[in-house]
Parts: sequence; C-alpha cells; structure tokens
Amino acid sequence: MKKVAIVTGGAMGYKDGGPSIGGAISTKLAQNGYSVLVVDMLDAGKWTVEKIKEHNGKGIFIKGDVTDSDFVQSVVAKAKKEYGGLTCLVNCVARYSSGMAKNVQEITEDEWSKTLETNLGGYFKCAKYSIPLILETGNGSIVNISSYASFASLPNFSVYSVAKAAIDGLTRSLSVDFAPEIRTNSVCPGFVRIENSQNDRTKKELAQWYSDISKQYPMKRVCEVEEIANVVNFLVSDEASYINGQSIVVDGGKSVADFHQF
Ligand SMILES: NC(=O)c1ccc[n+]([C@@H]2O[C@H](COP(=O)([O-])OP(=O)(O)OC[C@H]3O[C@@H](n4cnc5c(N)ncnc54)[C@H](O)[C@@H]3O)[C@@H](O)[C@H]2O)c1
Repeated sequence: MKKVAIVTGGAMGYKDGGPSIGGAISTKLAQNGYSVLVVDMLDAGKWTVEKIKEHNGKGIFIKGDVTDSDFVQSVVAKAKKEYGGLTCLVNCVARYSSGMAKNVQEITEDEWSKTLETNLGGYFKCAKYSIPLILETGNGSIVNISSYASFASLPNFSVYSVAKAAIDGLTRSLSVDFAPEIRTNSVCPGFVRIENSQNDRTKKELAQWYSDISKQYPMKRVCEVEEIANVVNFLVSDEASYINGQSIVVDGGKSVADFHQF
C-alpha cells in the first residue's frame, strides 16, 4: 500500500540539527515506510532528510512558506510527481515571535494577524490543497499538531492559544467532512524538549529551566520529541482505523493534575 506524507515544520532544530517535533515525526514516518516531503522555511529541513537517508528512508526537503498558496500547491504537485500520490498530511508549523507573546491588550493587530496566518491559515491551506490528492490516492489521514494551550491558557500567549483551539475545531470539521476516506485527528503536546526553545540559555541555566518545568508535571520530566512522533505514527496507521476527530493530549498528565496539598 502507498505511503506518502507531507510534514510541514519538518526542520530539525535550527541551531545544530538538534531535536524538533517535526523532524522526529518525519524520521519516524520514514522509518515506517513513508516517503516524506519535509516542508519548512528554514534550511535545517535538509538535516531531517539527511537523517531519513541515514536510515535508508525516502524523503525530500522542500523549502518554502506554508502561508503561500502557490507554494503549497507546488508541494502537493511534487508529491504526485515524485511518489505517485499522497496519503498523509501532518501540519506542524508554528510561528513564534517576541511580539506575539502578549496578552490581548498588548498584542498589536499586525502580530495577531501574522500569527493566525501561519499557525491557523498554514494548516488550512495545506489541508485544502492536499485533500484532493489524498482522496485520489486513498487510505488517507491528517494529523494537526495542536497544543495543551488549546485547553489551558498560558499567560501572555493569547493568539497562540486561540490558534491552537481553532486547530482543534478545524480537526473536527475535517473529520466530519472527509471521513471515511480521510481520518483527521490532532495531537496536543504539553512541554516538549526541543532545540529551538533553548534560546540563549547556558547549559546550566537550561538544566535548571527543565528541572523547574518538570516539577509541574506528574511524570517529573518534560516530553521528548519521539514521544509525540510515536503518537502521530499510531494515528496515521491502520491500528487507529476508527479514531477520527479526536484531540489527543500528550502532556504526561499535567492537564488532570492538581498539586494542592491538604
Ligand atoms: N515545543 C513544545 O513544547 C510544543 C508544545 C506544544 C505544541 N507544540 C507545537 O509543535 C509544533 C512544532 O513546534 P516546535 O515547538 O517544535 O517549534 P519549532 O520552531 O521547532 O517548529 C516549528 C517549525 O515551523 C517552521 N515554520 C514556521 N512558520 C513557517 C511557515 N510559514 N512555513 C514553513 N515553515 C514554517 C519553523 O521554521 C520551524 O522549523 C508547533 O505546531 C507547536 O505549536 C510545541
């Protein structure tokens, strides 16, 4: 059976190719027999394909911006030309900027629009233009990477939370409109250890940061990128053949925890 996936936001960590959620998803799907079109606006997408090829997998990197409709359509055309179809879309991009990390009173209208254009509009456009080829190819699935922030607001992360809640709405809409041919689900991670989130912290500061965050989690550690990739790999597989329209929270139990002491 044909297995071809587009993974957006599929670049490895931009500093030195360290862990990223999209990179881990791309390599996991490739290990599972998918030909993967790794899409990202950063050159670090080529490191993901290098990693895929190290394990004898199939993949190509396509650099571009998922808010550009022409670019998205060219990626879908490439899936057909290179691999003969498309069975899977994983939407994983996110725009982060210091300007978007603000509450509603402080955020500018421009930051609000730009963030929604990528974090929601990019998901919509990739779904819109992938669906015809997924329907033509058969056995389709879409996974949208949402967040724990869809359900619980992070302080001063207004537009990010709004985009993630909308992604879960988009997931439900797709799951109703395109089943049974396409199953659509989302994955909502809690805090995941990625290269790009490390900013300019020293190794010592970084260790302290992870240690402080880990205290808020029943698992007493943050999530590793492979633990998100494993869930995506399951959701797109036949093992998940009756799972449709769901938002799967992968937060080590944080969202159900109350650490109040009596
Ligand atoms: N890291 C976490 O703790 C965490 C938690 C919950 C959800 N998530 C979600 O996981 C996904 C992956 O993000 P991440 O946190 O690993 O950060 P990341 O920065 O490593 O990944 C996002 C990728 O999207 C790419 N991108 C951004 N805008 C783009 C555009 N317009 N076109 C093409 N590529 C674009 C970036 O270049 C980057 O490689 C995101 O959807 C994010 O919201 C992350």
